[in-house]
Amino acid sequence: DLPNTLTLANITHNTDTHTNIPPTLLPYLTRNLHLTPNHPISNTRLIIESLFPSSTFAKYNTLPPIVTVAQNFDCLGFPSDHVGRSRSDTYYVNKYTVLRTHTSAHQAEKFRTLEREGKEGYLISADVYRRDAIDRSHYPVFHQMEGARLFSRRDKTSGQLVDEILKDLEGMPVPNVEVVESCKLFEEGENPVQVEKGHSVEEAVAVGKHLQRQLELVVSKVFSEAALAAGDSVAAKEKVKVRWVSAYFPFTSPSYELEVLWNGEWLEILGCGVIRQNLLDYAGQKESIGWAFGLGLERIAMLMYGIPDIRLFWSGDERFLEQFKEGVVKRFEPFSKYPQCFKDVAFWLAEGRGAAAAGGAGVAAGTEEGFHENDFMELVRGVGGDLVEDVKLIDEFTHPKTGRKSVCYRINYRSLERTLTNEEVDELQNKVRSQLEEKMGVQLR
Ligand code: PHE
Repeated sequence: DLPNTLTLANITHNTDTHTNIPPTLLPYLTRNLHLTPNHPISNTRLIIESLFPSSTFAKYNTLPPIVTVAQNFDCLGFPSDHVGRSRSDTYYVNKYTVLRTHTSAHQAEKFRTLEREGKEGYLISADVYRRDAIDRSHYPVFHQMEGARLFSRRDKTSGQLVDEILKDLEGMPVPNVEVVESCKLFEEGENPVQVEKGHSVEEAVAVGKHLQRQLELVVSKVFSEAALAAGDSVAAKEKVKVRWVSAYFPFTSPSYELEVLWNGEWLEILGCGVIRQNLLDYAGQKESIGWAFGLGLERIAMLMYGIPDIRLFWSGDERFLEQFKEGVVKRFEPFSKYPQCFKDVAFWLAEGRGAAAAGGAGVAAGTEEGFHENDFMELVRGVGGDLVEDVKLIDEFTHPKTGRKSVCYRINYRSLERTLTNEEVDELQNKVRSQLEEKMGVQLR
């Protein structure tokens, strides 16, 4: 079990009944892949950072991952019943402190010090933590990059502010993208997207355009690097197809997601929007308007280098690490795959908890009292670590008479580095089974 206190960056935190960080997670808090020379996560960060001039953007890459509930949720306007706050989704150090679930946790504090730093915006890259499913693209620790840019309206008319934003936009390079679809800047109808109180439509539109230009530049850079990595200099000059989709975040309005067409599929790569004024007011920026975005570095690195499994980033295997050199983007050459080994486990959910049972495949479900798929996922990770490639819900069944619910999960054991023996997989599976009974109080079938 976790000790009574947790010390990180010289700060000691008490643990309590809210604490749900497994001891196996602790080594990750100091790994800093985004700062590890030659690591693909760090390389991806550097490539994107190069598009944001240091004269305008402060760059923060060493902010410690333990933040307050206020930083991570409250000051960003997350409602008190938001699912993201639940102990099944978020790692709590104690009732008041969490492992940040996103880099947005640092928005307010960094807005507050912008003038002191002599900047108009910032980039923050950091490790973030979420309880989640197990598969090739999910890991409880990953990395995000947050970006923001403010425009001062001090001593300016609204018209002057808009002109200034649009003039700055015109000075930026033209991205090599084709926008094949774009949501209206302000949607009407069922869920009308509001312009923030105190923003004119013209101002919000100008900020939104500036934001879109900056992010289209990111995408166009990433994709030309990806094509070069694959040795395809023709594709490197082609336009990337993107689309803007309207989205919702509690701290931006309007909000968008940017999707890119990649191997025939639309992939969501970032969330962004015009920062809500109450957040800026809270952060001492009453006289500013601006944009913010957040993107996942793993997702982009996987695309750019063709990395097939998120566990590879954490592997110390030289066959992986050797392939990455600072500044040189080369497509990853997968080393041979080792065999998979599937094991199923079926169990009845604890009596009286049927109503809170698992939802659809891969969907974390349940209420505070019930069975939480993420708890099961964590139990499996605790036993198998990186030897588990994915876990899928393959069957659900409710007994017609008793109303009791049974679920069956398929665990796929496969090492990235070697062939597992039958004996060791059996041993892992037996541990999963016994811990399910002991820790989760379920009845095995
Ligand atoms: N923090 C959001 C997420 O993790 C992304 C985001 C950042 C959205 C900044 C808007 C503005 O999903």
